[in-house]
Amino acid sequence: MQPAPSPAAKPPPPAHIAIIMDGNGRWATRRGLPRVAGHRAGADAVRRTVTACGDLGVRFLTLYAFSSENWKRPASEVSDLFGLLRLYLRRELAELHSNGIRLRVIGDRTRLPADVVELIADGERVTAGNSRFTLVIAINYGGQAEIVSAARRIAEAVKAGTLDPSSIDEAVFESYLDTTDIPHPDLLVRTSGEQRLSNFLLWQTAYTELVFTPTLWPDFGREALEEAIDEYHRRDRRYGAVGA
Ligand code: FPP
Repeated sequence: MQPAPSPAAKPPPPAHIAIIMDGNGRWATRRGLPRVAGHRAGADAVRRTVTACGDLGVRFLTLYAFSSENWKRPASEVSDLFGLLRLYLRRELAELHSNGIRLRVIGDRTRLPADVVELIADGERVTAGNSRFTLVIAINYGGQAEIVSAARRIAEAVKAGTLDPSSIDEAVFESYLDTTDIPHPDLLVRTSGEQRLSNFLLWQTAYTELVFTPTLWPDFGREALEEAIDEYHRRDRRYGAVGA
């Protein structure tokens, strides 16, 4: 008897996946629950997704946890979101570390509660030597503010005479971004059916494949992640060149 043909090997997953976690509020409202219940369920989806990315061999996962525009939400919701972030940073750090996961946080820390800044610094310090996988959490992050901050610091370096304007190219500009030394995302997923970037990684997504799924973030997990990765594999990435 002929041996069964071996299934085609799966292509490697995208090295860097970025996710706009959307739909927590709608998830809660549909169940007659307060919005915070959606955010709590969203934090569980974060845990599932981090585990799934680790299992699948993804090297970088960037999560949009709190945008610079999210301060416009009611104070009680902002406080609930920071409560969940605190809890995550306190409770998950040991687990992230023991799984060889490095933690990085991008965004403007100057407006964050002091204890959250401390938790972030501790998490980054403890996990700095880990290299299996990097979890990047965007907190008080806005792509336009990140680009403006880079431009301001470049202007200061030029004014101080330490940077020659003629040497400024994409690589130099990039070295002033929060994401310096993090590769650009290969795949960006936005949940809940909305189809926009909402100020997330504006510079870094120049050639990123965008996948929009109707799944609400609290329902997201390994299966939805694998579906997004399958969709990514069906895309033809040309980076402005001609296809094969
Ligand atoms: C968007 O849903 C979600 C957020 C603004 C917050 C995301 C936060 C978490 C998933 C929890 C904590 C994060 C970590 C990393 C532990 P929405 O509230 O805008 O939903 P809606 O559009 O349905 O109202």
